[in-house]
Amino acid sequence: MSAVRGEFSSRFSFIMAAAGSAVGLGNIWGFPTQVASNGGAAFVLVYLVLAFVLAYPALMAELVIGRFARANAVAALQKVARGPAGKKLGAATGFYGIVVASLILSFYGIVAGWMLAHWLEPLTPWLGLQAGAVHTIAAQLVFTLFFMAATVAIITGGVKDGIEKWSSRLMPLLLLILSLLILYVFTQPGAVSGLKVYLIPDFSRIGDRGLIVSALGQAFFSLSLGVGTMLIYGSYISKQENLPVLGGLVTLIDIGIAVMAGLLIIPAMYVALENGVEIFDASGALLAEGALVFTVLPALFDSMGVAGGLVGFAFFALMSIAALTSSISMLEVPVAYTVENHGFRRNAATWLIGGTISAISLAVILSFDALFGLVVAFTTRFSQPLLGLMLCVFVGWIWHRRGLLEEIKQGNPQVESSLFWKIWPIYVKFICPLIILVTFGDTLLS
Ligand code: PHE
Repeated sequence: MSAVRGEFSSRFSFIMAAAGSAVGLGNIWGFPTQVASNGGAAFVLVYLVLAFVLAYPALMAELVIGRFARANAVAALQKVARGPAGKKLGAATGFYGIVVASLILSFYGIVAGWMLAHWLEPLTPWLGLQAGAVHTIAAQLVFTLFFMAATVAIITGGVKDGIEKWSSRLMPLLLLILSLLILYVFTQPGAVSGLKVYLIPDFSRIGDRGLIVSALGQAFFSLSLGVGTMLIYGSYISKQENLPVLGGLVTLIDIGIAVMAGLLIIPAMYVALENGVEIFDASGALLAEGALVFTVLPALFDSMGVAGGLVGFAFFALMSIAALTSSISMLEVPVAYTVENHGFRRNAATWLIGGTISAISLAVILSFDALFGLVVAFTTRFSQPLLGLMLCVFVGWIWHRRGLLEEIKQGNPQVESSLFWKIWPIYVKFICPLIILVTFGDTLLS
């Protein structure tokens, strides 16, 4: 079976694919939103620290397991584990990850549908539709289904013709749109006040427990951790590649794009303020979440006349592209499992699973108030940290240290004497599990 497994054709393709997975709504919407609701630069600072010291080691754990096992999460964790009980635990953890990845896709498809709706909104007059037509429930169902169909279409192509081809096209485009938008917003009055909020930290907020828990959750979500996405992408990396370097680059790109998205959105809010748009809530805090992306920014674009129309169009195109390169990585997780462990053909597996997840999305849209928040909380707040913890335990406590070293040495023969090998194993063994446990306990208690 290993002969038919896909592999990324170059280092660039892997980086684009993995960064494409990592860079998504979590960076361009989630991160600026968290910055806005957690007091600006203090959050940025804590986030940067946690992303490097915690999320990067956890990402490495997934990449190493994946490349070693050359298999999906269930098979890979079974391979790493020892003894019948260990193997059962491996399979159960992998399967839990697959379910969580699928559920994340079910809500991600809905949010991506909103982005598509906002993107295509300016076209409504040409299509003979009324202004609000793209925001009805029926339209939401259509946009979500359309987005899911695009995700499925890419994943049926497999690693080279699907994931790699589309990530390598869309990621540079995303970077270009984002850079142009930042340059434009910087020329607008009010941008400098926003920059100050974004860059000058209020140190009194840095120890805030809520802030730390949010920053950790954000880092895990943003790097696509815990659910087997990075594990499966890792399984497609050639043995000649240097894993710590690849993982480091992906982390840097992910963090870099989040920081850039903040550079766009926080100043844009103050430009909006300058144009008479309300950006604070009743308590005086910056508006965040839905209000920020779907009210403040569109109001800003409206107030800018013709240029605003173009900027808005580009912004929601950016959001939709970012969502697509992430959603394909989520769908690859259950698809690879079904193909490898149950002998399905790739095409059949992709349509079947994509169809099932779309049905869940539709159910969530139809009982939105009851289900949406629940699915988001169960997957991102509860399951991702727990799974991240489990993966660190597999690498730090269950896998033989020698086996681990042998794997990392491939493509990086000097690693044994490197700083990475002095620090990283201790990190995944003790520090990551401990910090995740502490913050996880905190989330459960609140
Ligand atoms: N990292 C993606 C984002 O920032 C979300 C994601 C989570 C992707 C889990 C894959 C798996 O939007």
